[in-house]
Formats: sequence, structure tokens, C-alpha cells
Amino acid sequence: MENSILKIEDLSFSYHQIIALKNINIDIKKGEIVSLIGANGAGKTTLLKVLSAIETQQKGKILYKGDDISKSDSAKRVKLGIAQVPEGRGLFDILSVEDNLLLGAYLRNDDEIEKDMFEIYELFPVLKEKKEHYAGTLSGGQQQMLSVGRALMSRPDLLLLDEPSMGLAPIIVEDIFEVLENLRDKGTTVFLVEQNAYLALSISDRAYVLENGEIVMSGDSKELIDDHRVKEAYLGM
Ligand SMILES: Nc1ncnc2c1ncn2[C@@H]1O[C@H](COP(=O)(O)OP(=O)(O)OP(=O)(O)O)[C@@H](O)[C@H]1O
Ligand SMILES: [Mg+2]
Repeated sequence: MENSILKIEDLSFSYHQIIALKNINIDIKKGEIVSLIGANGAGKTTLLKVLSAIETQQKGKILYKGDDISKSDSAKRVKLGIAQVPEGRGLFDILSVEDNLLLGAYLRNDDEIEKDMFEIYELFPVLKEKKEHYAGTLSGGQQQMLSVGRALMSRPDLLLLDEPSMGLAPIIVEDIFEVLENLRDKGTTVFLVEQNAYLALSISDRAYVLENGEIVMSGDSKELIDDHRVKEAYLGM
């Protein structure tokens, strides 16, 4: 499938006896926003960790742009264009905003790093204002912007985000999600993991529902948002 950017085939993962992911199949096309929704402990973070090779899957395949990357390490996957905005943001609190951004480019050796940083400051002007500040002194929303900015510094084709809305005021979440839509419109593919199903379904093109480590539903987000099972289980209706 030339149009597919990420294809996950029959992927399983366990933490010792705890089965966290069972035979996951997901297909993401270039230029889509795809969301993965699921309750606390469903396995969402585990899946993103496996996709970034922070955890190693025991079974199944990961195809990126048609190539099997199942055995590639984290650095290799970043180089290929997969970046992650991790759960909890993963910033270095006692490094400046600018240094955190530069860390996102640590595998690059081209001469456009400054230019990209400038673009990220255009995207998130508050980061420019605070570029000398320690990341730990930023508000939650600013930290989330920094985490997204840092991921973008690796020039990803595929951006993985783990619950970017967590703990943020709705108006800030709106800003961040608008940026994700802009990125998608410029060609970046987005895989968005969210416990906030309504938000995720509102912004994404397609979605998968993860329950106890298994994909139990998938489809167009517009259809899922009206599905009675999704409404009952995830939208509190
Ligand atoms: N390091 C670990 N060792 C053992 N079990 C783990 C570990 N990390 C997660 N688990 C278990 O794996 C399952 C999936 O956890 P995971 O963190 O992937 O869920 P999640 O969907 O991201 O949840 P949340 O919405 O709370 O972030 C849970 O049962 C969890 O307790
Ligand atoms: Mg999680």
C-alpha cells in the first residue's frame, strides 16, 4: 500500500504476565489524523512505546512507508521520521525552552535547524518569548506546546501524541489541536492517543477504540461519534 504510512499487523505485547496488547491491527494513511481512544489502562501508552521502540513487541510487524521497521531501534525510527510527544510531556525541566527544542534535533546534522526553530516560534509565539526560561517554569499548556515543538524539530512525517489534552484548560487544548490540524494540512500524519474521546473524535479523520489491549471498533470518526456503543462507553451519553 503506497498510501499507507504506518501499518501495524497482529502486534502483541506483554509486561511479563500482564498482556497489554493483543493482535493489534492498525493502518494509517499519509496525511490523516487518526485517533486511538480508550479508557485508563487500555494499553494506549504501551502501543506508542512499542511504536517508538521504547518497548519491544513480542509478536507482529510494524511497517513504515512499506518497510518492516519491527527490529529498528528508537534512534533509527526518529531518523526515518517518527516522532513522539510522550505522556507527561517528557521535558527537561532545568533546561531552557530553546535547549529542549534543540534536543529534538539531536539526530540531525543539516544546516536548517535554526530555520526550523524559527518556524516553531512562529507556530507557538509564547515559546519564543520564553526561550531562555527553564522548561519547568512554563504553564502546563506551554509545556505541551514545547513538547510538540520538540517533536517537530526532528522533522517527522508521522507524529505520535500521547494524551496532549491531559490536564489542560479547554481553550489551550483548542489551540494545540488547531496546530495539529494545520500540521496535517501541511502533510504531517498524526496519530493521536486520547482518553478524551470527544475531543479526539472531533479532530480526527478516523479512529480506533482500544479496550483491554484489543481494538474493538474502528471507522470514520464522524460515524463513531454517533455510534451508540461509543456514546455510552466514551462520551458519557
Ligand atoms: N511498566 C509496566 N509494567 C507492568 N505493567 C504495566 C507497565 N506499564 C503499563 N502496565 C500495564 O499495562 C496496561 C496498559 O497500560 P498503559 O499505560 O499502556 O495504558 P493507557 O491506555 O496508556 O492508560 P492511561 O489512560 O492511564 O494512560 C495496564 O494494565 C498497566 O497497568
Ligand atoms: Mg497512557
